[in-house]
Amino acid sequence: MPTINKNLSNLMWVERYRPLTLNEVIDQKEIVNALRQLINIPNELPHLLFAGPPGVGKTTTALCIARQLLGEEWRRDTLELNASDERGIKMVRERVKEFAAVMKLITGNRDEKPFRIIILDEADEMTSEAQTALRRIIEDSSRTTRFIIICNYLSQIIEPLQSRCVVFRFTRLAKEDLVRHLKTICEKEGAKFEEKALSQIYDATSGDLRHSINILQASAGMGSVTHANVIASRGLSGKSRVGEVIRLALAGRFTDARVKLFELTNVYGLSENDFLKYANQEAYDMKLDHPDEFAALMAEYDYRLAAGAHPEIQLAALLAQLGKLGSKASN
Ligand SMILES: Nc1ncnc2c1ncn2[C@@H]1O[C@H](COP(=O)(O)OP(=O)(O)O)[C@@H](O)[C@H]1O
Ligand SMILES: [Mg+2]
Repeated sequence: MPTINKNLSNLMWVERYRPLTLNEVIDQKEIVNALRQLINIPNELPHLLFAGPPGVGKTTTALCIARQLLGEEWRRDTLELNASDERGIKMVRERVKEFAAVMKLITGNRDEKPFRIIILDEADEMTSEAQTALRRIIEDSSRTTRFIIICNYLSQIIEPLQSRCVVFRFTRLAKEDLVRHLKTICEKEGAKFEEKALSQIYDATSGDLRHSINILQASAGMGSVTHANVIASRGLSGKSRVGEVIRLALAGRFTDARVKLFELTNVYGLSENDFLKYANQEAYDMKLDHPDEFAALMAEYDYRLAAGAHPEIQLAALLAQLGKLGSKASN
């Protein structure tokens, strides 16, 4: 990951407080205990299948296993794929092959590591043909690769794939554990909070810790974690914050604008399209010097997003363009 993205993702409390070892994983006790036993004998590790609702620690647990099994260089020997991004099994096959080839090059000594790990997230988004092909890939690469397959719905995973893995069903977190965790985060961040508001966050997310931490961070960003701020950040339109991003960009403060934009899309969950929509409304209210050029820029980036270009890169480019527009206005 480029440094700038690493720094940006560290702004997000969900990332900052993501457990690094199995010991830190909250709840999921039986799963964690069973996995601890399994990783004690690395050479006999089976393929794993994690199923369960969002935000309860599936990806986190998979990453902990990779880190604990593969040691310092775990990043190099772990491949994280998202089945829903990289449409089609062809992609998976190519990436797996590529990865295998690189592995051969860099680990001259084959015995150095027991194997590499491939984490395949959102596998239930794959068609059953793709899953059948995946099953074959798993079989062909079994000598050197362990798969950790992750899904929300076990019922969407074909039986032959299930039967090649040890299945773990993750459950929603218990209220008191989740609330306690939110409290710990508040204390570490020095954020003010009402006890009541924390349990309100649990009720709003029904045990999805990712969503809970995002609401917590958004509320804390409004001053303190109160009942009113929790409600506001749940339904946050983000409109005024979008205005701030635009103002920063026009003032030529690209990095500040980009950090705020990243917060909006990743912490508050604002979609890129909504960002453009609000930006348009805000700019109208701002009475810009070059409204026509602004409108042309908006239209161009709206088109690029609709055409499927990478949203984060496109919006960053838009901010850079706005910087140029802003400096023209002030000349
Ligand atoms: N069981 C858990 N213990 C500790 N933190 C968790 C747990 N589940 C979720 N989180 C928090 O929520 C974030 C998202 O969790 P993740 O493991 O990606 O969820 P998912 O089950 O959707 O894969 C993590 O970065 C972490 O901050
Ligand atoms: Mg996940």
